[in-house]
Formats: sequence, C-alpha cells, structure tokens
Amino acid sequence: MMKHLTRWLWPTAAASLLLLATSGCNKSGGDTIKIGEFASLTGKEATFGISSHEGTLMAVEEINATGGVLGKKLELLTEDTQSKAGESQTVVNKLIARDGVIGILGEVASSRSLEAAKVCQDSKIPMVSPSSTNPKVTETGDYIFRVCFIDPFQGTVMANFATKSLKATKVAVFTDVKSDYSKGLAKFFKEQFLKNGGQIVTELDFNGGDKDFKAQLTAIKAANPDGVFIPGYYTDAALIAIQAKQLGLNVPLFGGDGWESEKLTEIGKDAVEGHYFSTHYSPEVGSDMSKQFVENYRKRWNGKSPDALAACAYDSAIVLVDAIKRAGTTEGPKVRDALAATKDFKAVTGKITINEQRDASKAAVILQVKDGKFKYLETVEP
Ligand code: PHE
Repeated sequence: MMKHLTRWLWPTAAASLLLLATSGCNKSGGDTIKIGEFASLTGKEATFGISSHEGTLMAVEEINATGGVLGKKLELLTEDTQSKAGESQTVVNKLIARDGVIGILGEVASSRSLEAAKVCQDSKIPMVSPSSTNPKVTETGDYIFRVCFIDPFQGTVMANFATKSLKATKVAVFTDVKSDYSKGLAKFFKEQFLKNGGQIVTELDFNGGDKDFKAQLTAIKAANPDGVFIPGYYTDAALIAIQAKQLGLNVPLFGGDGWESEKLTEIGKDAVEGHYFSTHYSPEVGSDMSKQFVENYRKRWNGKSPDALAACAYDSAIVLVDAIKRAGTTEGPKVRDALAATKDFKAVTGKITINEQRDASKAAVILQVKDGKFKYLETVEP
C-alpha cells in the first residue's frame, strides 16, 4: 500500500515542482520581457498577419539593439490565428497562461481582436491592437487599447469621399455579414452618406470566403447605383471586382482598410484598377520618422515596401514598450495605466494620443489602385 502511494506521489510532486519552476521563470524572474503577438500568418487574411508581424518584429529588434527596456531584452512570442474564428481566444490564452507574456499585440481583424480582448481583460494583461477599427474592440474593457482610428471615422471619410470626390448620389452597400468590421463600417458609412443627402439604393450581404457573388451583383446592377461600397477584406473584394466587371457593372467600387494587401491586385488584376479605399498609412507621405521606417523596413524585408498593417504594428509595439518604460514595471495594472496616459507619442503613422475610449484619433489616407499599385490621393484629418 505504502509503496503504491509513494509511486503515485512521486510523479505528481515532480510535476508540481516543474510547474513551479516554469511559472516562476515565466512570470517574474526571467531575464527577458515576454511580449505576445497573435496574427493571421496563414489562411485567407495571411498578408494582414505577415505584414503586421514584420512590423512588430522590426520594432522589437530595434528596441533590443538599443538595450531593450528596464534593463532587459524583449522576447516576442508569435502565434498564428490562421485567419480562423475561435483560434484567437485559444492562442492568446496560451500566450498568457503557458508563456507568461506581460502584454499582447494584435490582431488586425476586429472579430479576432474581439475574441482575444475578453481573455486579456479577464487576465488583466494589456492588449494593443495595431489596426482593428471596430469600436467594440476597446469597449471590451479598460485593458484593451488600439493605436488606430475607429470605423465611425473611417465610414465618414469614405461617405464624404463618395459624395464629394466621386459625386455619387446613389450607392449600393455590399457587406460581409461574418465580419464585425464589415457590418460596423457599412453602418457608419450609410449614416454619413444619408446625412450628405445620398441614397442607398440597395444593400446586400455575403459571407467572407464566398467564391460566387454573381447573384448579389446582378441585383446591385439592377438597382443602378453610381458606386458600390464594399467594406470587406481583400480576397473577397478582389473576387467581387472581377465578377462585377464580368457582369458589366462598371461603376467605381470602394472600400476601407480591409482592401489593403498586395493580393488585392494580384487576384483582381485589371478588375480592381481605378477603384479606391481608405487606410491608415501610405509610404508615399509622412514624417521623417515614417521615411526612416520605410528605409529600414525595405532593408530588413528584402526590398518590400511597408503597408499600413506593418506601420500600425510597428507603432503598437513601440507604444506598448514606451508604456512599460514609463510604468517602470511589467505589472499589468501599471502598464495599463501608462498606456492610458500615452500622449503625443511620435510614431510612424502619426502622433498617438490614447483617448478616454482607449482609441487613437488619427488621420486616414485615401488610395487608388493605379497600374497595379496603390496611389496616394489624399489625407483626411479627424
Ligand atoms: N480595420 C480592419 C478590421 O478592423 C483590419 C485592417 C486594418 C485591415 C488595416 C487592413 C488594414 O477588421
């Protein structure tokens, strides 16, 4: 009997000792500061995650090259959300509970940021989204921040662009009902476009990842709009543009930041030429800091130009590290307070001040697809 008991006890005791040792070195005594990143490195929005990761990693490398923060080097732990619903919650849980990260960076897609935000809020681990724009993300709680503008602004920017620049009066709206981002942006766009005296001639839905949009596009064509607003992500937007062209729906198509990917033109080719979208950043304009960032990024990533995702992600990392520095500690509540106090912080995408809602009020840029590239058209201040 006794023998049995000891045999049973031994592995348990050993396991708990091991657990103690690992949690001890993860949470406090370690010689690095662990930052978690969750990003769609694969799947249907892979370019979002890849660009974001490149920006984040570059920031971490630069900070480490100048000595790190609080006398320690940063360690970036990255998890792939695979562009899938359900994954963000799982991987962020892992980063916090298993790896003991002290802050979380991500995601791009609002629906995935929303999933993770709940986990971060419950664990009192500050989360900074680089580029999720749906208002609900930071409404989750006081540990959730973002370094970008939100969709009530982006929707207004594109509604005013439709009215003033496109001279559109009758617009159709085509929404991805699987995406919080798309539904929100559609709503905010409509509100402003109606205020401008415009008319929404029809509203149709799709599900992100669909391949055939012809039925809805036929209905849209029949409503005779002079522009179609498509607040979706790049793969869907490109396929929609191709099928719109095939159906002879030859009016301007326009969307929001979700269009931003080199895949938009790779997939859409001439069907996306001349169309428009709003986003956070253009490497064509900006401060000296932005110019330096473009140069460093090209060097680091084999000549690739940074997009808005990379720039926002870089900014999310430097904002978090600045807060850690000002807090003088990595304790969640103190870093949270320091993040909330971020004011006039010089970043690549512009000056960042975190407001009462834990969002950043920043300018938007409008780009046009021209010869397979994104041409800067204008900057719209908040
Ligand atoms: N704003 C989008 C969202 O909230 C994500 C996105 C940001 C996509 C920047 C492209 C560029 O879902």
